[in-house]
Formats: sequence, C-alpha cells, structure tokens
Amino acid sequence: MGPKELVHASISTIVIFLYMFSHTNSIEVFPVVDGTYPPEAEGPAAESSGMDEPELSPGPPARVVDVDDYRESADAGDHTEAFLQAWKEACNSSDYPSVLLVPEGKTYLLMPVSFNGPCRATTITATIRGTLEAPSDRSVWLDRDLQEWITFDNIDHLRVLGGGTLNGNGHEWWINSCKTNKSMRCVTGPTALYFRRCTHLVVEGLQVRDSMQMHVVIAYSWRVLVSRLLVTAPGWSPNTDGIHVSNSREVLISGCIISTGDDCISIVTGSMFVRATGIFCGPGHGLSIGSLGANKSLAHVSDVLVEKATLVGTTNGVRIKTWQGGYGYAERITFQDISMHNVTNPVIIDQNYCDSKTPCHEQGSAVAINNIRYRNIRGTSSSKVAINFVCSNTVHCDGIVMQDVSLVGEGTYVSCSYMNARVVELGYNLPYCRAEM
Ligand SMILES: *[C@@H]1O[C@H](CO)[C@@H](O)[C@H](O)[C@H]1NC(C)=O
Ligand SMILES: *[C@@H]1O[C@H](CO)[C@@H](O)[C@H](O)[C@H]1NC(C)=O
Ligand SMILES: *[C@@H]1O[C@H](CO)[C@@H](O)[C@H](O)[C@H]1NC(C)=O
Ligand SMILES: *[C@@H]1O[C@H](CO)[C@@H](O)[C@H](O)[C@H]1NC(C)=O
Repeated sequence: MGPKELVHASISTIVIFLYMFSHTNSIEVFPVVDGTYPPEAEGPAAESSGMDEPELSPGPPARVVDVDDYRESADAGDHTEAFLQAWKEACNSSDYPSVLLVPEGKTYLLMPVSFNGPCRATTITATIRGTLEAPSDRSVWLDRDLQEWITFDNIDHLRVLGGGTLNGNGHEWWINSCKTNKSMRCVTGPTALYFRRCTHLVVEGLQVRDSMQMHVVIAYSWRVLVSRLLVTAPGWSPNTDGIHVSNSREVLISGCIISTGDDCISIVTGSMFVRATGIFCGPGHGLSIGSLGANKSLAHVSDVLVEKATLVGTTNGVRIKTWQGGYGYAERITFQDISMHNVTNPVIIDQNYCDSKTPCHEQGSAVAINNIRYRNIRGTSSSKVAINFVCSNTVHCDGIVMQDVSLVGEGTYVSCSYMNARVVELGYNLPYCRAEM
C-alpha cells in the first residue's frame, strides 16, 4: 500500500490527510535502509489490501459470529459476556476462517476483557463496525489490579478492523493522575487496546479515543501491520501514548493520525525492524524511541525507520530518550522525510531522560546510541535549540548523521546543541552542528 492509496483511505479527516501528504510530491522514493526492513509487498499489508470484506477472500467461507446473537447471556448494560461467548465460537468452532462481527450503529459496554488464543480457526477477523465503550469508573481496574481494557493474546492470523470506535472514556483517569494533580498517588492506568503475543496481526481502520493511558500497545508480537488508525485524546491527557511498540519485530505502522497527550508513537525495548510511515502527529510528545533503560534495565532497539511524518505543535519531533544507569543499545535508526510545524524540540536525543518525581542522579552506565540518521527533515521549531543531542558522559552517542536537515525558528535563529556526540554532516544542513566531539 503506497502513500497514494493511503490518501484515498477512508479515515474521515481528509483535510489533515491532504496536509499530511502535501510534501510527498517533492521527495523521491527513498530506498529502505540496508534493504533490511520488511518490504510492504510481502508483509501483512499485501494480505490486507482491498480485503476489508473477509467474506470475499478465496478458500472456504468464513464463519460469521455476530455478537448480537449472544446478547441474551449478557447483563442489560454490560456486553462483556456476550463478546466472550462469541469469541469462543469464532476462535474454536472450526478449522476455517472466522469473523467476529460487531454490528454497525450500536454501542456496547465492555468491562476489561481478554480474547485469548490459541484458536482452531485459521484466521480470525474481528470486524468492529459499532462502538465499544469502556466503563468510566476507575475502580473497575483498581479493584482488580488490571492494566488493560481490551486484550488480544496469543493469536496467529488475527485481523481487527471495520471502521468502528473504541472509546476508553479516560477522563476520570486523567484528572486523578499524579501528572495532573501532584497530590495524587501515581498509578498505572489501563491501555485501551492491547495485543500480546500475536503473529500475522493486522489492525486497520479503527478509531481509538480517550484512552485511560496508552491507546494501542503491540507487545511480544511479530509481523504486524497497523494502518489507518485515528487515535485521539486531549493534548493535556497524561501518558496517553498513541501506538506503543514493545518487544516486537517486523512491525509496520502506516497512515495513522495521532493526536494525544503523550508520544504519538513510542518504540521501546526488544523491538526491531519497525517502520512507521505516513504518520500525522499533533498534539502530542512526538515520535519516540524509548524511554529505554529505566531502573538500570537492559534495552535494545534496532533497525527502525520513521518516515513521511508530519508533526504539528508537538513538544518533541523525533526523539530518542534513555535513562541513566541502563545498558544495552539503540542503533540503526533512521528518521527521514519529516515535516515539522512549530515543534518545540524537533530533533532530540536525551540520554539523561528522567521522568520521575524524584531527581535522577548521575550514573556510570547508559544505553548506547549508535548509527542514527536524520535525512530530509524540514520545518519550524518553536524553541531556539532545534537540534539537541544530550549524550551521556560515559557512553557517548556515535555515528549520528545529519543529511539535508533544515529547521528554522518562528521568527528567530535556531541552533544545534550537543554534548558527547559525534555528528557527521552531509548535504545542506541548517542549523549546522560543528563536527567535533
Ligand atoms: C480453543 O482451543 C484451544 C485448544 O484446545 C484452547 O487452548 C483454547 O483455550 C480454546 N480457546 C477458546 C477461546 O475457547
Ligand atoms: C488534587 O487532589 C486533591 C486530593 O485528592 C484534591 O483535594 C484537590 O482538589 C485536587 N486538585 C485539583 C486541582 O484538582
Ligand atoms: C522503577 O522501579 C521503581 C521501584 O520498583 C518503580 O516504582 C518505578 O515505577 C520504576 N520506574 C520505571 C520507569 O519503570
Ligand atoms: C507554537 O508553539 C508554541 C509553544 O508550543 C505556542 O505557544 C505558539 O502559540 C505556537 N505558535 C503557532 C504559530 O502556532
């Protein structure tokens, strides 16, 4: 699926989409770095294109399980039991493809629920056309010590699509967060849509909004396509990351619009061969690798390509953030063809990241940061330091390449600031980072 098709994709915010791809005319098609990223034609993208109606796929007819057929087993307001019954049927009733259908035009209240595999069905398509609502009452999670709302676990060949909406109703979480109100206790809020141990996973054409904390998490998964998601929450809502990738490989995130109160995309340890393309981000904290190495942990992230993104009014543009005291590495990461509009820290590496209530002390170890490429990044910075590499005193950042990076201030000069980083400049860069240690 190319950017042209994405433009025609069905997410409604057409104006934003036009804005988002307005710069693509002027750029060539860049080859994938080292040829190591999963080519789209072979990934799940190829399987999914033009196949929104699984009934039309060749092979045995899919068995369609409609959640409405299980409603008598549910409470009046709560549809969780009906969904679980329907899932059981879709998952294990036959060796054929199956469809779990959530009909259009209806709203379903779901308590925290986990749809688990392994399944007998060869493929499962959850077609969500209606709206799923989370309870707004926090005690539902706090009483049971749960941290997810809707989970899919241990499933091969799962597709979740259909144009419907998942509403996390997270307001109560946001106002009671220790980030919003310093006198509150810090608790981890649930993720709205969590995928754990899924392989050959497609998540496509859904709206996920107002999550309690993170919106979509991909964890311990392999061969994943996430495309055409509209992810929204207010800019002030704390920790509401858009799409979070952890311990997963061969993940393609494509054509998503993300407006939240934290990172639009965050990619953390154990992730490799991740590509994000055609992303609109703002408001939010930008496109991030990390944070990595918290609590002296081991982190490794490699072979990431973030490209064709538009960021508007975000606090960061493209960011790598690691805590002091961690170990491991973040390497072979490329950010290219990115357009920034009034972004506070357009290009930033922060190896002294600290997001805790107590200050972080200097530590002797750090997550190493190597081979980071910035290519064709343009736009405006709302702060004076448009490029900022804050690297650790003990483990310096190495192999940072800037190529055709051009950032200007909103009416002021901007600079590149760096410490403990080796920067190589190619092409025409503004501001220029003097090449020294
Ligand atoms: C489906 O069957 C498998 C294998 O028998 C079993 O492990 C799994 O729990 C079943 N799943 C559901 C949702 O019933
Ligand atoms: C913060 O929380 C405290 C304790 O629950 C509460 O009394 C106070 O009104 C809250 N402040 C705001 C600004 O919401
Ligand atoms: C680090 O560990 C402490 C104590 O176990 C915990 O409270 C804190 O949330 C951890 N920090 C992170 C960022 O994981
Ligand atoms: C740019 O961003 C800054 C801070 O994020 C904000 O105060 C300012 O209004 C923005 N300017 C424009 C032109 O949007």
